[in-house]
Amino acid sequence: MTRHSLQIDKNGRLRHFLCISGLNRQLITEILDTAESFAGVTQQSVKKVPLLRGKTIVNLFFEASTRTRTTFELAAKRLSADVLNINITQSSTVKGETLLDTLRNLEAMHVDMFVVRHADSGAAHFIAANAAPHISVINAGDGWHSHPTQAMLDMFTIRRVKGADFGALRVAIVGDILHSRVARSQIHALNLLNTGEVRIVAPQSLIPAHAESLGAQVHHDLQTGIKDVDVIIMLRLQRERMQGAFLPSAHEYFELFGLTEEKLMHASPDVTVMHPGPINRGVEMDSEVADGPRSVILEQVTHGIAVRMAVMSMAMSRKEGDTG
Ligand code: CP
Repeated sequence: MTRHSLQIDKNGRLRHFLCISGLNRQLITEILDTAESFAGVTQQSVKKVPLLRGKTIVNLFFEASTRTRTTFELAAKRLSADVLNINITQSSTVKGETLLDTLRNLEAMHVDMFVVRHADSGAAHFIAANAAPHISVINAGDGWHSHPTQAMLDMFTIRRVKGADFGALRVAIVGDILHSRVARSQIHALNLLNTGEVRIVAPQSLIPAHAESLGAQVHHDLQTGIKDVDVIIMLRLQRERMQGAFLPSAHEYFELFGLTEEKLMHASPDVTVMHPGPINRGVEMDSEVADGPRSVILEQVTHGIAVRMAVMSMAMSRKEGDTG
């Protein structure tokens, strides 16, 4: 079974959420609309809806996370699910238990969903392919491959700030595209939403081979790359994934590709600045930009809760016994 068909059931509904590629415009629009309906829950005095009452969701994070893990936990709690956060460093994984044995033991506790972050590309897909049929798997970031809920919360943020007509937008993604699962997922989502222009901007060493085939224009100069764009998405330099000399120095990188108020003058006057976090201040961008009036970086984090509520509730909305 392909990665794409694994995540959609025979009725075209979300079964797992593993990557953006393979989804269609209708489904990702449904995720955005469902997230919109959940955004108000956060404003209520009782921040809960009963949709997943009686369900158990397991956060399996094999890699560090602040935003994704906590917003998945909050989203699950706001849907009234029970949440287990497995501390991998204190689990039997460190005694040599295999991933499959860990899964089988959690399944024996009658859980309903795994939210998985892993350093290996394909890990969430592997778990989805091997989990019991009633279990849904949500990819919370796998290696260089995919971070689909991050891309969806970014699309949600763009739609809220700029409106639903993505065709009218120029979007530039700037930074370490090569190592970025976020960039890959964003490019797929922006293209599915028929975005007017998608650009990627980075030094040659941080652009993947055959980048144009991803569906984005490639730029190696920040000034031309962000000229007249409506949205700039800055990405972190992923030093933990770099082996060897990809860059001369962080200082030189900032000089050429770091975002400052001065460089922002080349973009559209009402440009919106985004970053999935964590930010390296003074490397990807100045604090003046990160904390400035054009930045929606913290709104992105807030929107992560509603978008994750949407994805989890949609994946769990299959009828009892419908595992296909
Ligand atoms: N954007 C993102 O995935 O952040 P975390 O690594 O903190 O989850």
